[in-house]
Amino acid sequence: MPKHAIIRKKIKPFNKIINVPGDKSISIRFILMSAMAIGKSRAYGLLNSEDCNAALRAISKLGAKVYKKKNCIEINGQGLNGLSFKNKTIINCQNSGTLMRLFGSLICRYKKSVILKGDSSLSQRPVRIIEPLNLFGVNVKSRQNKLPVEITGTDFLRPIIYKEHKGSAQIKSLCLLTALNTPKDSISKITSLKSRDHTERLFKYLKIPIKIKKKGNYDFIEVKGGYQHSGFVQKIPGDISSASFFICLTLLSKNSKITIKNVNVNKTRTGIIDLANKICPGSIKIKNKKTSSGEEIADIFVKSAKKFKAINPSTSFNSRTIDEFPLIFLMCAKAKGISTIKKIGEMRLKESDRIKVCANFLRQINIKIIEKTDSLKIYGNPNLNLNKKIIVKNFMKDHRIFMMSCVAALTLGGDWKIYNKNSIDTSFPSFIHLIKKLGAKIN
Ligand code: S3P
Repeated sequence: MPKHAIIRKKIKPFNKIINVPGDKSISIRFILMSAMAIGKSRAYGLLNSEDCNAALRAISKLGAKVYKKKNCIEINGQGLNGLSFKNKTIINCQNSGTLMRLFGSLICRYKKSVILKGDSSLSQRPVRIIEPLNLFGVNVKSRQNKLPVEITGTDFLRPIIYKEHKGSAQIKSLCLLTALNTPKDSISKITSLKSRDHTERLFKYLKIPIKIKKKGNYDFIEVKGGYQHSGFVQKIPGDISSASFFICLTLLSKNSKITIKNVNVNKTRTGIIDLANKICPGSIKIKNKKTSSGEEIADIFVKSAKKFKAINPSTSFNSRTIDEFPLIFLMCAKAKGISTIKKIGEMRLKESDRIKVCANFLRQINIKIIEKTDSLKIYGNPNLNLNKKIIVKNFMKDHRIFMMSCVAALTLGGDWKIYNKNSIDTSFPSFIHLIKKLGAKIN
């Protein structure tokens, strides 16, 4: 298989019903929580991707047993207290920030150490786990807040009072899962800037005691230590971040329609839908909402947009849209007027520096932009139609940049060569297969 994608033709009108693979955040939480459960857990629709495989390998190294069955994954957990591993066990988190940030919660109560490593992209990102884990009494050794880190657990875990002020769901989740391991009835209090709430929902689904008060932009969360959950069954909904590539593709294509079935529409994740509805009002509808394993799911209907409007969204959309901004930028490039997206500095700390990579990308497709440390101004062009050779590379093999580039290539014209096709294995290995099913010509 070539290592890059060649796209030379716009996609022809399509009208299709599709499913996207399971949600990555929810899948990884299932894997970690099932390792800490007593007994068998089962997931239907777990995402089969590199990030999830890294998480499965990680829990296997702690003694959890993983069985890949025909239509589900079964994990035999050993309980909060029953995991077993050698001192200085090496865990390779590969490309997964979620695994890197949540993993300490599994081994925090054992007086042994693990060493977390990652690929070149993950090794450039801040680990951010040191401060909260230290508060719990866990030792973390690192060089300048980067991988590799050595985490050493303790017999004397204590509850914490902590403020998570970056809006990182990963750090919030690390605190919630570690708090479970503190002595019985001790209470950790975590104040967290709003972010995706899959961990809180999973706690409620498993009847783990958790109290949440919402006030303004913050959630005030209390977790009691010492509650041991049992094995459980979870249905994993489709990933809205993966669905977003198809939402954007359809909006930017001519005379097309798509229905994406059973997608997670948790409010903390649907910024893409709300912003896309501002850019092209009335093009997206959500139908058949229901609750499944503690999460909201629905079918998403999208039709091609006639016009794209510039936006100046409030920063309250940021955490709800964080992984989807590259697609929002692409839509803004087609809009009439100037769009400004503010306070998005966090994007520089993802799988690649997504502000820089997207700014370079937009310049390459003839869009004027002003890039600042934590904002992007995009001068849209409704007549954007390319007729030149475009090579997309140097994006740290960032899966979301690869897929966004494919959407651009299939809708804007031009002769494209997009590097790092394998990057899709991180979150959406069937992406090329699925987009070809809609009629896309990709080599
Ligand atoms: C994730 C949280 C977000 C998101 C990432 C997955 C999670 O990161 O960007 O892709 O599963 O909790 P932050 O917690 O750094 O915002």
